[in-house]
Amino acid sequence: MADSKESLSVTDNRTGETYEVPIEQGTVKAMAFRDMKVDEDDFGLMTYDPAFTNTANCRSTITYIDGENGVLEHRGYTIEDLCEHATYLEVAYLLIYGELPKQDELDEWVHEITIHTFVHENLKEFLGGFRYDAHPMGMLQSSVGALSTFYPGAKNIDDDRERFLATIRLIAKMPTLAAFAYRHNLGLPYNYPDNDLSYPGNFLSMMFKMTEAKYEPDPRLEKALDVLWILHADHEQNCSTAAVRAVGSSEVDPYSAVAAGVAALYGPLHGGANEAVLKMLDRIETVENIPDFLQGVKDRKERLMGFGHRVYKNYDPRARVIKKNVEEVLEVTGKSPKLEIATELEKHALDDDYFTERKLYPNVDFYSGLIYEALSLPTDMFTVMFAIPRTSGWMSQWLEMVKDEETKIARPRQIYTGERARDFVPIADR
Ligand code: SDX
Repeated sequence: MADSKESLSVTDNRTGETYEVPIEQGTVKAMAFRDMKVDEDDFGLMTYDPAFTNTANCRSTITYIDGENGVLEHRGYTIEDLCEHATYLEVAYLLIYGELPKQDELDEWVHEITIHTFVHENLKEFLGGFRYDAHPMGMLQSSVGALSTFYPGAKNIDDDRERFLATIRLIAKMPTLAAFAYRHNLGLPYNYPDNDLSYPGNFLSMMFKMTEAKYEPDPRLEKALDVLWILHADHEQNCSTAAVRAVGSSEVDPYSAVAAGVAALYGPLHGGANEAVLKMLDRIETVENIPDFLQGVKDRKERLMGFGHRVYKNYDPRARVIKKNVEEVLEVTGKSPKLEIATELEKHALDDDYFTERKLYPNVDFYSGLIYEALSLPTDMFTVMFAIPRTSGWMSQWLEMVKDEETKIARPRQIYTGERARDFVPIADR
């Protein structure tokens, strides 16, 4: 029997029965309520939690978030320390293996990823089938899914070597697929990976190299991208990670599970918000228009994109780091009029009870788009920039899920509110 202090005593007033429900790690098991029945034929009680706002679906050791205090840690290291001292690939290793790599481990990890950056030549024809104006997120979710057809061995999800290869391949190839989608949109030839360059440097080369023999990335932009990618690497059970876990629980290969994550991230309430923020700033146009825009938000005619968060009820610590990053990037690329609108918009919103009462603060998407715009990326590439680093988070969560003894195929229940036992009506009588 659970310690009486670490349990709930639940009385079912329909029967007068009292049930002891153990409290474990701040939760109670939903299945404990199935024992609460009015008679033997009763199915028992379920819990109802649309959008899982108060439901834990797994145990995890990867990312810790304290929403009230704006804390984000990966495997116990603060996001601020990781941005200050680590590279993105070092953080990707930390997410996957749980420990920061020693120098030889990091060198081997970087080498493995570097030699897996190429994609099968057939993927070029696959991407060639899209219209010139296809959204790069639509191309990315399709090409990531297509990767599963090139690596049938990935279906052996219990095989360590296959798990390792899928992890390396996805982290290595996401930038290549992203850059190829971008070049396809512009009708430009693809640039193959350059293995002499860093992970972010190689991405910039695949994106922007033109006729020069060798692309030379600006080290300040490489650093800015690396920090941005650390900030976007993982974020516990967000919508897209929950999608990867749910789809992965059917024991499909990880490429297909990650393709589901890309699809979820595409949504404007999730990763698509960075693109929506820039469009919102464009619509606001001038600082003078901010009060009217915010009134539109309060009248529920608008949503303040890049603000609010399911977990953070304080400033998203990532937004704070990105805001500092923006200034450093703009020193390289030149001032952005939108930065002034964004900072004024934040100031007005945080001075307004409507937003502070609802605990609406800037989130990771509010400033990131300004950096992508400063890198001359089109807005429809912004969410792709989120998907690249989130791949290491999705894969760390997928690996944790496949190894978790408690994992079963995800299959929620429902409250049925429809009709029952209706007589069929022949079409002539309808
Ligand atoms: C990401 O989960 C993650 O970790 C995600 C992420 C990650 O790293 O994976 O952090 C990345 O997706 C960041 C969020 C990016 N999305 C946006 O910026 C879109 C704008 N924000 C929202 O739509 C909203 O804040 C959500 C979706 C982020 C969170 O929504 P919730 O938790 O469901 O909150 P809610 O909709 O219940 O809002 C609570 C109240 C409501 O007001 P009332 O009806 O109670 O009066 O706040 C209001 C909402 O109307 N509200 C907003 C608002 N967000 C919430 N009002 C205006 N503008 C907003 N942005």
